[in-house]
Amino acid sequence: MCGIIAYTGQQPAAPILTAGLKRLEYRGYDSSGITVSARKRLRTWKSVGKLSALQASLPDTISGNCGIGHTRWATHGAPSDINAHPHTDTAESISLVHNGIIENADRLRDRLRDAGIQPVSDTDSEVLVHLLAMARREHAFTLIEAVRHVLRQIVGTYGIAAISNDQPDTIALARSGSPVIIGIGDGEMLAASDMSVLSRHTSEVVHLDDGEVAELTPAGFTVTTMDALPTDKASMTLSDNLNEYDKGGHTHFLYREISDQPETVARTISGRLDTRFNTAKLGGLNLQARDLLKLKRIKILGCGSALYAGLAGANLIETLSRIPSDAEAAAEFRYRNPVIEPDTLYIVVSQSGETFDTLAATREIQRKGGFVLGIVNSVGSTIAREVNGGIYMHAGPEVSVASTKAYTSMLSVFALLAILLGRTRDISPQRGSQLLMELQSVPEKLSTVLALESQIETIAKTYCHCQSAFFVGRTSAYPVALEGAQKLKEISYIHAEAYPASELKHGPLALVSKDTPCVIILPESDLLAKSIGSLEEIKARGAPVIVVTDSSQERIDKLADHVIRVPGADPLVQGLIMGVPLQLLAYHCALALGRDVDQPRNLAKSVTVE
Ligand code: AGP
Repeated sequence: MCGIIAYTGQQPAAPILTAGLKRLEYRGYDSSGITVSARKRLRTWKSVGKLSALQASLPDTISGNCGIGHTRWATHGAPSDINAHPHTDTAESISLVHNGIIENADRLRDRLRDAGIQPVSDTDSEVLVHLLAMARREHAFTLIEAVRHVLRQIVGTYGIAAISNDQPDTIALARSGSPVIIGIGDGEMLAASDMSVLSRHTSEVVHLDDGEVAELTPAGFTVTTMDALPTDKASMTLSDNLNEYDKGGHTHFLYREISDQPETVARTISGRLDTRFNTAKLGGLNLQARDLLKLKRIKILGCGSALYAGLAGANLIETLSRIPSDAEAAAEFRYRNPVIEPDTLYIVVSQSGETFDTLAATREIQRKGGFVLGIVNSVGSTIAREVNGGIYMHAGPEVSVASTKAYTSMLSVFALLAILLGRTRDISPQRGSQLLMELQSVPEKLSTVLALESQIETIAKTYCHCQSAFFVGRTSAYPVALEGAQKLKEISYIHAEAYPASELKHGPLALVSKDTPCVIILPESDLLAKSIGSLEEIKARGAPVIVVTDSSQERIDKLADHVIRVPGADPLVQGLIMGVPLQLLAYHCALALGRDVDQPRNLAKSVTVE
């Protein structure tokens, strides 16, 4: 998804901007560009394709200590040099980068044409820069005044950074729906859409909120409302570990993040196991035991892998607490005018804390008076700041587009929450104690699973050329199947579908053949015999079968072509453990097919538009 970087200070801006763009690469992009201001002149370079193409087009030295940069992920207009940001007005007096979508761009473009201004790109963003220039001409506004004036005419979402040739060290910023974070340096100021860019320069940051406008100069910053009233902004100190933004000696971020899971899960549960009362301690809930007792329902919302983690979480919570729980896609939920109930706990799940649909669902629930709890990884992100209570995942920054360590941390948080809710109702102290021990044993079990890599790599190489694959699971294993299929399709581009085992005979079985490998998730449970029945059904159609199981039943080995055997565990954490071999399977298929594993096509790390 699009990324913004801006710098004003004493150092040459261009290398800082390009290094910032490099950091933003992981979010997904199709073109990039920078503008640098020097001697009352703005110079812009833009290029479609990888950042290396932009870098190759830059002169050896670029003077100027103030500038803006952007990585674009096309929404309006195809990827091209012209559609890349920054956009400049006709006189090249203002340059602007924009994340988000201007919904009334067509009407504004007509207004520009009536004034004799012809935008050159197909983007919605370009209209902003012409409107800024027009406003300055007509009203003799400063840059920040023009920004306030123009943004009043905008319908849509934006995070913007703009510079002008006549205020050479000033950057104007604004936010509505798309993140902008200010980084406070010593004699220099930065801004970015993503914390990862700022963390190498400073640990003091300020998050802009929707409706705020900011002005940066090397000496400092001011934040105001759209009506130019000052807002009281406190800075926060970043706790990000810089080492987590590198590959840790591996070829891909994805591999590092898969391998780090024993540690990241340990971090998620650390300090949260209350062995005295055999329950979980979750400090940021903002809910007392009395409030938890009153809950009649739990509704979990998220997108993509966060939704699948939510489905698994709903299962755990309902099983242990007997509170009816379910999960739904955040966008679907908010658009169906849902009934918000006072005794329902709404839980939103997001790694980035910036996913537009999840944020919009949060706001819709709060607008109707509901209480929203956030399970978020990115500290200080918009969702983390807006929810009524929260649980941080503490998985550390996740760089690869495909979620792995954040996903297992989400499941770990759900396990903690299920124990806590269970202990307020149905679960005895003895059972609580067993569950805590199960959770504590997960990091070690994950290390055992990671040691199965060479077996999984061989399986991946055997089937990576298939056109289509099925993932099958029953009840608690179904979300595992969904996430396994998601991982495979997103990074290897192999078509993959997940089904509950019971649904196979109602349709999908028609497609099962020797050309469709089937991955079956078979946890040891009282449904195991039924699931083995599904295995037989699939085998009878000639499909190659890969089983992931913690059961030692010999029948499985007789029927399956490959058995990935993981350590046995309580249902509380079985799904978490069984998901990891599927991450490795997807990774090795993608690798064998020569895919860009960290930045899969058409995908963005953080989806901040609708
Ligand atoms: C996961 O592999 C995906 N890339 C994607 O589905 C992701 O989980 C989804 O976009 C939600 O992101 P979030 O957790 O940052 O809200």
